[in-house]
Amino acid sequence: MGWSRKHLLGLEEVGRDEITTILDTASKFREVLDRPVKKVPTFRGITVVNLFFEASTRTRMSFELAEKRLSADVMNFSASTSSLKKGETLRDTARNIEAMKVDMVVMRHPSPGAPHFLTQHIDGSIINAGDGPHEHPTQALLDLFTMRENVGDLDGKRVTIVGDIVHSRVARSDIWGLKTMGADVTLCGPKTFMPAEVEAMGVTVSHDIHEATADADIVNILRIQRERQEGAFLPSLREYTNLFGIDSERLARMRDDVLIMHPGPINRGVELAPDVADGPRSVILDQVTNGVAVRMAVLYLLSRVRAAERVDEPEILAEVTI
Ligand code: CP
Repeated sequence: MGWSRKHLLGLEEVGRDEITTILDTASKFREVLDRPVKKVPTFRGITVVNLFFEASTRTRMSFELAEKRLSADVMNFSASTSSLKKGETLRDTARNIEAMKVDMVVMRHPSPGAPHFLTQHIDGSIINAGDGPHEHPTQALLDLFTMRENVGDLDGKRVTIVGDIVHSRVARSDIWGLKTMGADVTLCGPKTFMPAEVEAMGVTVSHDIHEATADADIVNILRIQRERQEGAFLPSLREYTNLFGIDSERLARMRDDVLIMHPGPINRGVELAPDVADGPRSVILDQVTNGVAVRMAVLYLLSRVRAAERVDEPEILAEVTI
């Protein structure tokens, strides 16, 4: 079926055929979302827990909706209202979740590698919903899906990612996914926002916003992550906006058919002007809609691998039912 992984932890290791399988599967689920009844019975009897140790609006709601559209039993865990507050470790939390016979875990955590750690303690499938500044694979997949829907095959397409690359898990996953799909990737932002290893990822780096965006098919703008900035990465937000913010004047110097994207949440008036965010070249809300279909596809493909591992399960279920 083009997908044989039990977990989705990042896009660095995921190949072109695998990404194509996810995007093709997401296209089918995207059609389901346009039906009057937006639900399929695929996940009846499957339990998914959303384990969020960090704030989220889009990813958390999108996963929950995707799970409900698939008819899964859904549990939500929030660190701020859990026994982590009483000193419970991540390992003990994981072992307790395991004891509840959960099939799949969607995890967001501030520490890179936390979802990988969970794979050693939970038998179910793990989906990384963002681990610190490391990876956010489903965001990148929904970005790739939205790009493919608008510009077709990504081979040779020019994609410019603007902003806070060094703190961005979205940038890392986008770069891995875009390079795998054959796109030419340019990163643009202040020198302090470029990770040391970035040139080794096969991208072009520019510090000139006009040069970086003039011929781009797609401009993906990232949020300035004030909460992750411990040092003096920026003299001031105003200076960032003056040098790199995308407003209607800068948009006018880009291609007429350029696609404007942003993973959200947006700092309006900082990295992106409101009239561009809400304007005709923006597909930002399409990204959100497509995210549900992409997450349904990821959940579905992982569940198929898990079901293949447990070929005897239907008989066990039948016995219990009797
Ligand atoms: N794009 C994204 O990850 O948004 P949230 O932090 O709101 O989930």
